[in-house]
Amino acid sequence: MKGVILAGGTGTRLHPLTRITNKHLLPLYDRPMVTYAVEALVAAGLTELMLVTGGTHAGEFFRLLGNGHDYGIDRLLYAYQEEAGGIADALGLAERFVDRDKVCVMLADNVFEDSLEPIAANFASQAKGARVVLTEVDEDEHLRHLGVAALEGSRVTGIVEKPESPPSRFAVTGVYFYDDQVWDMLPTLTPSARGELEITDVNNWYVDRGEMEADVVTGFWGDAGESIDAYYEVNDFVRRMRG
Ligand code: G1P
Repeated sequence: MKGVILAGGTGTRLHPLTRITNKHLLPLYDRPMVTYAVEALVAAGLTELMLVTGGTHAGEFFRLLGNGHDYGIDRLLYAYQEEAGGIADALGLAERFVDRDKVCVMLADNVFEDSLEPIAANFASQAKGARVVLTEVDEDEHLRHLGVAALEGSRVTGIVEKPESPPSRFAVTGVYFYDDQVWDMLPTLTPSARGELEITDVNNWYVDRGEMEADVVTGFWGDAGESIDAYYEVNDFVRRMRG
């Protein structure tokens, strides 16, 4: 299984911090944000990774991660997203790297307390389809800023992006697993109201085929790019864990 780390976007929710750097290079306690995603995927057993970024600070990722060997990566490739076209658009740049293998995609602003290793193992033994990672979130206001799963028992029956009325308390985190059907699906996407190719549309394509599985994490989860308050909440968590 290959790993793809998505570290592009304009980071408007963290302006003006992100006018002078890429969001995923901002510090989380004592290290740049992207290193947490790198570590999470390496700890999950993935050693062939591609990092997709864009904008004016792409060179800083080379300076930070180099060939990846210091982080336990065997092979680290980079791709450059010419325009911020959304998560699903960024993923498309990894097609030749993944080369019909299974793929784990991680948004570089996500931080997990739990290991992703058992979830990656679940997907490795899944015959086909896709897999998402869910987490329970208490506040409706928080759920309105995320993708939220509609559930029947433990089965995902749909995912609603930024819902006005959340269909459950289970948010979709920024870790996704796909089989090779994803590469045929991506070119059929059309931009959402925010002008982006949405990962939620990819996920719902699998849901509609009955090929979407889900795991739930119970430890801390945060999207440090969601808002300045979320950024500090994730900082506080990391500081408690590492400080
Ligand atoms: C993206 C996804 C959303 C998911 C979130 C997790 O949101 O679209 O479904 O819940 O990541 O970090 P975005 O950060 O692009 O608003």
